[in-house]
Amino acid sequence: MKYRHSYHAGNFADVHKHVTLVALLDALLRKDAGFLYLDTHAGRGSYPLEAGRDTSQAEWRDGVGKLLGTTPRAAELTRWLALAGAEAGTYPGSPLLAAMLLRPADRAALFELQSDECAALHDSLTSAARIRVACGDGYHALKALLPPAERRGLIFIDPPYEEPADFDRVIDALANGLQRFATGVFCVWAPVKHATDLTRWVGKLARRAARPILLSQLWRAPRDARAGLAGSALVIVNPPWQIEARMREWLPELQQLMANHSGAGYEVRSIPPPAP
Ligand SMILES: C[S@@+](CC[C@H](N)C(=O)[O-])C[C@H]1O[C@@H](n2cnc3c(N)ncnc32)[C@H](O)[C@@H]1O
Repeated sequence: MKYRHSYHAGNFADVHKHVTLVALLDALLRKDAGFLYLDTHAGRGSYPLEAGRDTSQAEWRDGVGKLLGTTPRAAELTRWLALAGAEAGTYPGSPLLAAMLLRPADRAALFELQSDECAALHDSLTSAARIRVACGDGYHALKALLPPAERRGLIFIDPPYEEPADFDRVIDALANGLQRFATGVFCVWAPVKHATDLTRWVGKLARRAARPILLSQLWRAPRDARAGLAGSALVIVNPPWQIEARMREWLPELQQLMANHSGAGYEVRSIPPPAP
């Protein structure tokens, strides 16, 4: 595997996914009962923004770099920004954001396949019994850990999509996870290169999932080239109450704060389950 998230950490897609992740975690935190946070593709947790990089090319400048020092209107943006800027010079990935928010009643299971990334993830977290780091395949975790004893959970699926087959693999894994845990909140990230390809994939996913879905897309370039990362998509299965209404506030503002390309845009779309 060639993929290293360090090159992309803090880019516009990371900002899109992490603002949404924090909002989803906050929705689950509104109830006292504990829950499981399962991160199937966790990465190394913490990413230095400057060290060891050609900073003129650093993708974070077009992402989190656009938001640092701003005071957004939407509460979800302010909330994530406070967490993202908690440690100057580093950018927290999904497992670290979750670790900052979980309570003693909650649990986290964080899976990372690459051993060096996994070791770094281990080091980036202060040890806590309720947070488990596993150096292994996150897709297997969906089988092993679902349904959680708590009967509440957020499953975050954020693969690198190095192979075209990954798109089908994600749908299979999601369908399998939902068979085990139909009421869980699942959030799947996907790259957007071409709008038609994404629509087809989301349609397939929605038919297999057969649960309510909220689609969130943010793009910074026209989605018509099948080259480069034009946009970022999040498919949220079993979206928590009121998330859609809130997303209609924060996503347009986020798009405005980060857009510096003509052809940038966003979409929030609710997809009901197919009729039986
Ligand atoms: C996009 S990055 C994850 C970023 C992280 N979720 C975040 O938001 O900070 C994808 C990660 O998945 C890892 N990976 C790839 N295949 C995997 C698998 N089958 N199981 C677990 N991790 C995998 C890669 O090594 C990489 O670190």
